[in-house]
Amino acid sequence: MSAQYPIARPRRLRRSPALRRMVSDTRLHAADLILPMFVKEGIDEPRPVASMPGVFQHTRDSLRKAAHDAAEAGVGGLILFGVPAVKDAAGSAADDPDGILQVALREVNAEVGDALVVIADTCLDEFTDNGHCGILTPSGDVDNDATLERYASVAVAQATAGAQMIAPSGMMDGQVGAIRAALDGAGFGDIPILAYSVKYASAFYGPFRDAAECAPQFGDRSTYQQDPAGLPEEALREVRLDLAEGADAVMVKPALAYLDVITRVRDAVDVPVAAYQVSGEYAMVEAAAANGWIDRDRVIMESLVAIKRAGADLILTYWATEVARGL
Ligand code: PBG
Repeated sequence: MSAQYPIARPRRLRRSPALRRMVSDTRLHAADLILPMFVKEGIDEPRPVASMPGVFQHTRDSLRKAAHDAAEAGVGGLILFGVPAVKDAAGSAADDPDGILQVALREVNAEVGDALVVIADTCLDEFTDNGHCGILTPSGDVDNDATLERYASVAVAQATAGAQMIAPSGMMDGQVGAIRAALDGAGFGDIPILAYSVKYASAFYGPFRDAAECAPQFGDRSTYQQDPAGLPEEALREVRLDLAEGADAVMVKPALAYLDVITRVRDAVDVPVAAYQVSGEYAMVEAAAANGWIDRDRVIMESLVAIKRAGADLILTYWATEVARGL
């Protein structure tokens, strides 16, 4: 009678922890993880971000300490966001040598720059009074090419301050090329660009806008960020353009709702692919866990493994230090 039973039994390799461990395929490494961090000008104490429990707007001191902890845990890199005390239409603080992000880049690089990669997020939305990622025309559109000139100057200021990698996140056309040319012209030909190539106009960024104090004062970002319902080929086109302009690595953002896009990009390119597990992805897990509705630690690991399995070589995650410690 045994002919009616299966010969192939996938369960055989799942029988013991040792078997499962031996055949498991997707492994996270601490060095794959990049920790996003916020530093705020003019505060004396770190401020908790209400919508992101466990994440802080750092002081310069607490930022250095947290960067040190990340390095000690073996995290691969940090990406820094600055929250200036004063904002204006041009986002002037973004390329001020004494602006908060430049000061923080100098200090963090001195503290941990040998142990991990110090990355600067290159954008204007934290620095403009209107919260948009660029310079506005009189009618309130974001002026692509005027913004490129600002990004070029910001990237040079960041590299001068010690950024080891530049990560343009503003989704202007031609931003990678403009920044590459400016870096090369300023003697920073060796500084790589991690391009936010595929960035969707996503509701999952909600909590970030509290952390970075950069919610657009009018309108939204859908004239420059991608439509979640757009062709996946649009993502590939953005990636191809960025590589042609000199990007050294590319990013997909957000992560969990775009795993298909991560896989498509991974299959299409021969450079490292990063994925950004964004603020809303973090907040959902923390909120559900705080209610006792999910097993926090298992959900964190499962989500990170899923992102890696989809094809991400690098993962930006607010849990980087904690996860690296546990690996
Ligand atoms: C723009 C930027 C944003 C995020 C990273 N860089 C916000 C936006 O585009 O609105 C979001 C990150 C997150 O949600 O964790 N400088």
